[in-house]
Amino acid sequence: MWMTNVVAVCLLAILASAEDKKLSSHATTLADNSADLAFSLYHNMAKEKDTENILISPVVVASSLGMVALGGKASTASQVKTVLSADKLKDEHLHSGLSELLSEVSDAKTRNTTWKINNRLYGPSSVSFADDFVKTSKKHYNYDHTKINFRDKRSAVNSINEWAAKSTGGKLPEITKDVQNPDGAMIVNAMFFKPHWDEKFHDAMVDTRGFLVSRSFTVGVPMMHRTGLYDFYDDTEKRIYLLNMPLGQKQASMILIMPYQLEPLDRLEKLLTKTQMDTWISKMQSKAVAISLPKISLEVSHNLQKHLAELGLTEAVDKAKADLSNISGKKDLYLSNVFHASAFELDVEGNPFDTTIFSSEKLRNPKLFYVDHPFIFLVRDNKTKSIMYIGRVVRPKGEKMRDEL
Ligand SMILES: *[C@@H]1O[C@H](CO)[C@@H](O)[C@H](O)[C@H]1NC(C)=O
Ligand SMILES: *[C@@H]1O[C@H](CO)[C@@H](O)[C@H](O)[C@H]1NC(C)=O
Ligand SMILES: *[C@@H]1O[C@H](CO)[C@@H](O)[C@H](O)[C@H]1NC(C)=O
Repeated sequence: MWMTNVVAVCLLAILASAEDKKLSSHATTLADNSADLAFSLYHNMAKEKDTENILISPVVVASSLGMVALGGKASTASQVKTVLSADKLKDEHLHSGLSELLSEVSDAKTRNTTWKINNRLYGPSSVSFADDFVKTSKKHYNYDHTKINFRDKRSAVNSINEWAAKSTGGKLPEITKDVQNPDGAMIVNAMFFKPHWDEKFHDAMVDTRGFLVSRSFTVGVPMMHRTGLYDFYDDTEKRIYLLNMPLGQKQASMILIMPYQLEPLDRLEKLLTKTQMDTWISKMQSKAVAISLPKISLEVSHNLQKHLAELGLTEAVDKAKADLSNISGKKDLYLSNVFHASAFELDVEGNPFDTTIFSSEKLRNPKLFYVDHPFIFLVRDNKTKSIMYIGRVVRPKGEKMRDEL
């Protein structure tokens, strides 16, 4: 009898450890720091006048920075730690921590979400990558390495775009139309993300609705609808709605932040800090919510080189100062471009849910969450609290609709 108990206890322990593997303290610190980076990078990008939609994965940016630290020496490498507020971490803990974080949040098996992350470092044809660097950057950051000849610029650009399209299953057809400064090393992240909702939408309920880009410009988008119980907060003072939509088996969720009505997002962006976000999340309560959400795909590509420099990564990007000699054994490289591109697809798919809820009282008088104007969103991991994506949708693809205003 006691034998069976012992076996049962052991089994339970094994199951628990498989399900709830604790993050190391380094990974936890880096998860937290990468969330800080999310907001500073977002703000830095949002201040550009001609930027419309924004889509960045702070976790992937952090791991690309880790790759730069791996290839860098002296202050070129130590600046990476400063940008990640991780000056006190030892190198090996930086790399193992970032690597652990990335594999945790991108594990498709446990998370039931499609997230293809392809990372590549392009170098000019004169460079020869050091074996050791190739091996460690593959191991920790899943980077591969390729030389590219920019003498024929058009075919070089084409081959980058072809790689991105192929490695995302065609979802991300273009990273860039042109490459400035082809004499340096170039980071390219090509990603595809598709949330799998914890509770799915109904295919049959998708219809075309107007999305107000501005007072005078409306585009038609397919809109999906559903009513369910969601964590929701109505900030009546700031005139903002917040909604938490769980993904997969609730390992992560997409948090939508939307002003009551159409307005430029800068008012909301000024409020957007990690502390404010935590406050909002703590105030959310489970409510019946009737959601209408555009069923759209966004393809966004940013060159983060300048933005990372503004956040403190000044040496790696400076041809005269960069010391990236662990990449090639020579001091012959600098970081000339950081292309960070994603396709992000919002669709109806998700888990089936308990339909008996419709006959209960729980869904009476739902709050309306009608996403027909610009909004901000986060994809936040429930375990590490790191931010898998931060972005905004101000102009979805769609045909211009007849003005009704
Ligand atoms: C960089 O190269 C030096 C030797 O030149 C080596 O001691 C150091 O471990 C390397 N750093 C990394 C992160 O590989
Ligand atoms: C998520 O789970 C559903 C149901 O188990 C499955 O059909 C789907 O393929 C999974 N998706 C991913 C990306 O794991
Ligand atoms: C986070 O996970 C816990 C435990 O599975 C769950 O109860 C909670 O609802 C999740 N939170 C979100 C925001 O999905």
